[in-house]
Amino acid sequence: MVKIEHRSSFLFGVSFLVAATGIWTWRRRSTSCTREIRTMVDALNHPNVHIKDRQHVNKLIQNFIQGGKQKLQVVADFDRTMSRFKSEEGEIIATCHNALDNNDQISDKFRMEATKLRDYYYKIEIDDSLSKEVKYPYMVEWWTKAHDLLVDCGLTRDMISYSVKRSNIVLRDKTSWLLKELHVHDVPLLIFSAGLGDIIEEVIHQQHTMYSNIHIVSNYMDFNNQGTLVGFKGEIIHIYNKNENAIHESDYFEKLQHRENIILMGDSLGDLNMADGASDSADILKIGFLNDKVEERLNVYKDAYDIVLAADETMDIPNAIIRQVLES
Ligand code: TMP
Ligand code: MG
Repeated sequence: MVKIEHRSSFLFGVSFLVAATGIWTWRRRSTSCTREIRTMVDALNHPNVHIKDRQHVNKLIQNFIQGGKQKLQVVADFDRTMSRFKSEEGEIIATCHNALDNNDQISDKFRMEATKLRDYYYKIEIDDSLSKEVKYPYMVEWWTKAHDLLVDCGLTRDMISYSVKRSNIVLRDKTSWLLKELHVHDVPLLIFSAGLGDIIEEVIHQQHTMYSNIHIVSNYMDFNNQGTLVGFKGEIIHIYNKNENAIHESDYFEKLQHRENIILMGDSLGDLNMADGASDSADILKIGFLNDKVEERLNVYKDAYDIVLAADETMDIPNAIIRQVLES
């Protein structure tokens, strides 16, 4: 009898301790969470940050902080999202496809043709008065012609590294911090790009380090045994078919189902579909870089993205949010 009483008071003591620790941890988390939200709100008050629904954004960030790094995953576009749009001097930064323009091993004819294509199709890409459906066939045309041109110019595998070194392509400021921290905290990063996978890998190798938590979905070059480009692997990924990509049906998002808090970063409206393969219950905080024609496009971007960063060449805001989640 005495033994039973001893046991039950012991069990009561243990339960009390567990409950008290739980409450203490919860209170500590929610107090620090409120403090973190306040710091976050300060960062989000910066004049180049535009938010249509602040309450929604604050709630998402609060949930993400409470979920911590175990529930986090990041999905990012590459050109003009992970890479800069303009240099300090105001010079336009190359996209993956334009990274070859400054390579003197490539003919002037290639450069002229590629520039002609860009001048014609880029206007269509950023014209928000045209619907996605209208733009779609033009984008297929642009990518098809650009890829044919790359094959015709006799590009070799060896030219990739030299081309990236000669180009002005550069990661957005503080992207290195982001890559390092996501790696240290084992948070998966999907880079989903309509650019060129071989160039993206080279940029990351040259300007940072490629980590095992990074998965790249992009257009990959197909080289023959002599190392000459003969075509591209798989279906073309262009700016408006990111919703159709095989990644959505693959097990990528399924394996990461428990990571239900997604930070999505893009610079085009097509990037909003990059996490379509994630489960319906996932929460997505959409951060959009509005690089060009800011005044004209701001309202459309504010309707589409939760947070719009206008003409901001840094990763400061995404980093500030991610830092709070990683440290919570
Ligand atoms: P992203 O999905 O990584 O942003 O890559 C797509 C960008 O590449 C898009 O902004 C258009 C640009 N692009 C060029 O600059 N030159 C080209 O030849 C092609 C096909 C695309
Ligand atoms: Mg982009």
